[in-house]
Amino acid sequence: MTVITNGEDETQALGSALAAGLRRGCVVALTGGLGAGKTAFVRGIAAGLKNTSRVTSPTFTVVNEYPGEIPLFHFDFYRLSGARELFGIGWDDYLDRGGVVAAEWSDIAPELIPEDAVRVDIEYLGDNARRVTLEAGDGSEVMF
Ligand SMILES: Nc1ncnc2c1ncn2[C@@H]1O[C@H](COP(=O)(O)OP(=O)(O)O)[C@@H](O)[C@H]1O
Ligand SMILES: [Mg+2]
Repeated sequence: MTVITNGEDETQALGSALAAGLRRGCVVALTGGLGAGKTAFVRGIAAGLKNTSRVTSPTFTVVNEYPGEIPLFHFDFYRLSGARELFGIGWDDYLDRGGVVAAEWSDIAPELIPEDAVRVDIEYLGDNARRVTLEAGDGSEVMF
């Protein structure tokens, strides 16, 4: 599914809509350049999971954890050198903890992303416009 959003709130709303269909253990792999809106999308996922915490970028912490009925583990691979460093942080454990895992800059360690992950790519089109492309793990369309 491809959606053009006009403004951060619309990208957030898409994240919330996706979250409604996410189950424990789901991985959302995000790609797109700096300022594309990946963190905004994850903020929407948190809202959709009924998590009231303020979601901020985990660029410097690698992972932020948001407890909730379904916890959210929000990763940002941006400052990582690759998969090996993520193993050290306990990536595999996070996958097994019964939450939703969202990873910004997932293309930095693609080998760590499970095949059934939902892919979300965000492309900058202009000041407030973004092209958001969502794809289910099996390559099928994401619909909501
Ligand atoms: N349609 C849009 N979707 C998402 N963010 C947008 C959009 N239009 C403008 N923005 C702005 O772009 C920036 C996106 O920031 P952020 O979500 O942190 O990006 P990333 O995590 O991809 O680096 C914010 O300042 C936001 O207000
Ligand atoms: Mg970000």
